[in-house]
Amino acid sequence: MAVEPVVYGASERPPRGDYARAGADYTCAQNYAAYTEADHDTYRRLYERQSRLLPGLASQAFIDALPSLGERDRIPRFEEVNERLYQATRWELVAVPGLIPEVPFFTLLANRKFPVTDWIRTPEEFDYIVEPDIFHDLFGHVPLLFNPVFADYVQRYGQGGLKAHGLGACEMLSRLYWYTIEFGLIRESEGLRAYGAGILSSSGELPYSVQSPEPQRLPLQLARTMRTRYKIDTFQQTYFVIDSFQQLFDMTAADFSPIYQALKGQPEFAANEREEALTA
Ligand code: PHE
Ligand code: FE
Repeated sequence: MAVEPVVYGASERPPRGDYARAGADYTCAQNYAAYTEADHDTYRRLYERQSRLLPGLASQAFIDALPSLGERDRIPRFEEVNERLYQATRWELVAVPGLIPEVPFFTLLANRKFPVTDWIRTPEEFDYIVEPDIFHDLFGHVPLLFNPVFADYVQRYGQGGLKAHGLGACEMLSRLYWYTIEFGLIRESEGLRAYGAGILSSSGELPYSVQSPEPQRLPLQLARTMRTRYKIDTFQQTYFVIDSFQQLFDMTAADFSPIYQALKGQPEFAANEREEALTA
């Protein structure tokens, strides 16, 4: 069926997935039969490299939940992951052909359905891929959906997205998604750790985000984050740090309407703009 084209970032390239397979809600069946042995091998090699990097860099909740994804030698079947995920937090994975527009995306999240791209990158894209594939979506995002507090945060984000859409505030809200769910850092008792999926699925950015002296790391603050632009094709120059998932959940409990109102027309921060004065 015909679906709206998906607009994402600055890229002019059309998304690669086959949207003719998708229904009105943009979900499709996971095309498991389409995976080749080479695809399974790509997944196995990505999983192996990335899981080896996690100790000392990934949040403990992520490390603890990773085995719940199941198979590491082959691409998992969503149905099978869902048996465990639904039991843990009442979330479920749904397959999609790739990036989907805002409203269907928010609607799925608000209903505790997490869209996972069902195709995998080519071997040439092993180290870097511009758009999310199954490895990013599954390995990066799904382990923390087993954490009850984080899982509730993602649902609340979906509900907030639908509201933001009505208020013309999606750009501000999407920055919060970017700097938490995709590129968030958390201060744990053992030290700084990554919990954002964009970091956890990247072999280069995982050590960089936690250890490099180059980027600035600011305490997460709603207004600052929602005013900060981001780059989709380089390592981040600014990361925002939380102390716990509970803090993230509590910070986002309030009605954002007055915040959006107050922020409209205020200047934005560049992705790499330094904020020496801002302290926790
Ligand atoms: N509480 C926000 C609102 O009222 C929604 C939101 C929740 C945003 C969670 C981000 C994360 O709009
Ligand atoms: Fe993602």
